[in-house]
Amino acid sequence: MTDHYAVVGNPVAHSVSPLIHAQFALQTGEDIDYVKLLAPLDGFAECVAQFRASGGKGVNVTLPFKIEAYRLATRLNPAAQQAQAVNTLKFEGNDIIGDNTDGRGLTRDLEVNLGFAIAGRRVLLMGAGGAAQGVLAPLFAQKPAVLMIANRTLARAQTLADSFERSGCCAAASYEALAGSQFDLVINATSASVAGALPPLPPRLYASGALAYDMMYAAEPTLFLRSALACGAARIADGIGMLVEQAAVSFQVWRGVCPDTKPVLEKLKGERPDWRNAGQP
Ligand code: ATR
Repeated sequence: MTDHYAVVGNPVAHSVSPLIHAQFALQTGEDIDYVKLLAPLDGFAECVAQFRASGGKGVNVTLPFKIEAYRLATRLNPAAQQAQAVNTLKFEGNDIIGDNTDGRGLTRDLEVNLGFAIAGRRVLLMGAGGAAQGVLAPLFAQKPAVLMIANRTLARAQTLADSFERSGCCAAASYEALAGSQFDLVINATSASVAGALPPLPPRLYASGALAYDMMYAAEPTLFLRSALACGAARIADGIGMLVEQAAVSFQVWRGVCPDTKPVLEKLKGERPDWRNAGQP
């Protein structure tokens, strides 16, 4: 019997998650289907309840409902507890189990797909909203030498950094205060790209061989990635790999089977111009 899953968001029409999960299902032989559900902005919980009542086994949750999903869960896995946001719900008996696979998706994309070892590297995370919060703990777990959080509103960055205070390697800064520092990895977790805007990074920020990573994905390089190349980043990558990797972790949470992400990522990348490694030496 086919098991039903969905991605719930608003808007959700642009989501490629159904394509990704359809390929995972084919590859692993798991009998599932996966659809998009547009929830009214004030109707997330009802939408999930209806899907569950009709036999749904779980959902992915996208903007703007990740915090609501966190509150809806009756049990939380450690990643969701840490992120205080949920992108994966699994229905199990009377329980709604909340998980967050975004951070593991990011670190798997960096480490496995891009061959970038985070351990011992200087990492700059831009942004202090939900997107940044969701990836901070998994990044930190990879033991970077420095994990700097920069944000337009410094107080939000400070709050995030404070949650890792005892570790000694996590700090907060304004963009101006970064002048003179260099990083091996610069991650854009702000929503600036959505508005075609650019966080105000000082010059000479990219160390030799540095990777610039935008958690957004698009057909063309974002303004941040184009600017990073112009400012000396050696490589650029957008969040398409993170998208596929977080989907694979969700699939594993639901089905207990880990799909092979490589052919799925290759297929998605093949459908757009090849620029992912545009800055690779
Ligand atoms: P999300 O859940 O996507 O992270 P959010 O919680 O609204 O969304 O956070 C958006 C992040 O992008 C914030 O860090 C925001 O900075 P502020 O905290 O100062 O608002 C950042 N951001 C949005 N537009 C930006 C811009 N043009 N330049 C720099 N940072 C920007």
